[in-house]
Amino acid sequence: MAQPILEIRDLTVEFDTEDGVVRAVTGVSYDLAPGEVLGIVGESGSGKSVSMLSVLGLIPKPPGRIPSGHATFEGEDLLTMSSSRLRDLRGGRIAMIFQDPMTSLNPVLTIGDQISEAILVHNSGTSDDDARKRTVELLELVGVPFAERRVDQYPHEFSGGMRQRAMIAMAIANDPAVLIADEPTTALDVTIQAQIVEVLKAAQRETHAAIVLITHDLGLVAELADRVVVMYAGRVVELADVFTIFNEPRHPYTIGLMNSLARLDADLDRLEPIPGQPPSLITPPPGCAFHPRCAISQGRAICRTEVPPLKAVGVQEAPHDSACHFADELANLGAARAGTAS
Ligand SMILES: Nc1ncnc2c1ncn2[C@@H]1O[C@H](COP(=O)(O)OP(=O)(O)O)[C@@H](O)[C@H]1O
Ligand SMILES: [Mg+2]
Repeated sequence: MAQPILEIRDLTVEFDTEDGVVRAVTGVSYDLAPGEVLGIVGESGSGKSVSMLSVLGLIPKPPGRIPSGHATFEGEDLLTMSSSRLRDLRGGRIAMIFQDPMTSLNPVLTIGDQISEAILVHNSGTSDDDARKRTVELLELVGVPFAERRVDQYPHEFSGGMRQRAMIAMAIANDPAVLIADEPTTALDVTIQAQIVEVLKAAQRETHAAIVLITHDLGLVAELADRVVVMYAGRVVELADVFTIFNEPRHPYTIGLMNSLARLDADLDRLEPIPGQPPSLITPPPGCAFHPRCAISQGRAICRTEVPPLKAVGVQEAPHDSACHFADELANLGAARAGTAS
C-alpha cells in the first residue's frame, strides 16, 4: 500500500457507565491509503463509529477514554495534538458526513451561510462574495437544483435527501484529504439512498479524497468500497479488498453478514439473518466474542477460551486478515457459496 494517510494502531476505547466499563473498541488497527474508499462494516454497536470518532476527538471524555493505542494523520499524532489543531483538521483536511444532517445543520442559518462559513473559517483570505460563489458551485456539483436560489433557504426547506447533498457539499468545500461518511444513507428512503451514493461518487471524483465509509449496509460497501474492515464486538475480525470479502470471506461472522444481505435478486425467504444477538461489551463472552453465534465453533474449546488474533490468510499481493481460529477451514467456502447461489 502507498504510505497511509491515516493509521490507527491497537486502539482501545472504553466508556464508564452505571452498569460497568463498556469496551467499545479493543485493539483495533487499520490504515487508510490516499484516495481509497475503506468500508467499515458490522452490526449496530460493534464499535465502527467510536473507532473513528475517538481519534478525531469527538467522543465525550469522560465517560469515554482511550487507555491505549496510536493514531496518526499525515504523520501527525492525533491522540496527543492540541484541541485547536484537531478542530482545524476537522472540516479542513478531514471532513465528515453523518447519518442525520438535521442534527449537523444549524436550523437558524441558511444552507448557503453555513457552507460559506465553513469555507471562510478555513480560508481567511477568501472574500464573502467568492465564498458564496463557491457555495453555489458546490450545491450544483452535488445536484441541488436551482442552487442559485436554494442557497438562501433554511435546512427545514430542504428534503432529507437534499439536506444530505448540502452536507456533502459542505464536507468537500475545503477539498479534504479524508472524508468520513458515517451511515450517510441510513436515514434516507431507498430511492434517495441510491442518489446519495452517486453524489458520494461524484464528490470523490471531484476531491480525490480517501473515504472512510462507516455502515451496517453491505450493499453500500459493495457499491463504493475498495477495501473492507469487518468489526464485531469492538474488534476487527476480517480485513480484505472488497472483491475478496464478498467472494472469499474467511470469518464466520462475515459469511453470516453475506447470507443476511438482502440482494435485489434474492427471494425474501432466502434471507438468513445471523441467529442470536451481539454480545454485551461490558461482559463479553470469553474467547472469541462471536462463538455463541458461530456455526463452526460449536463444541470447540479454543473458541471459548482464546481470543483469536487477526492473522494473514491471503497472499502477499492481496492482503487478507481473519480473526478466526478455523479460518483455514473456510478457504474454499466462497467458491462453494458461489456454486449454490443460483
Ligand atoms: N458516550 C457513550 N457512552 C457510553 N457508551 C457509548 C458511548 N458512545 C458509544 N458507546 C457504546 O460503544 C459501543 C460502540 O458504539 P458505536 O461505535 O457507536 O457502534 P456502531 O457505530 O458500530 O453502531 C456501543 O456499545 C455503544 O453503546
Ligand atoms: Mg455508528
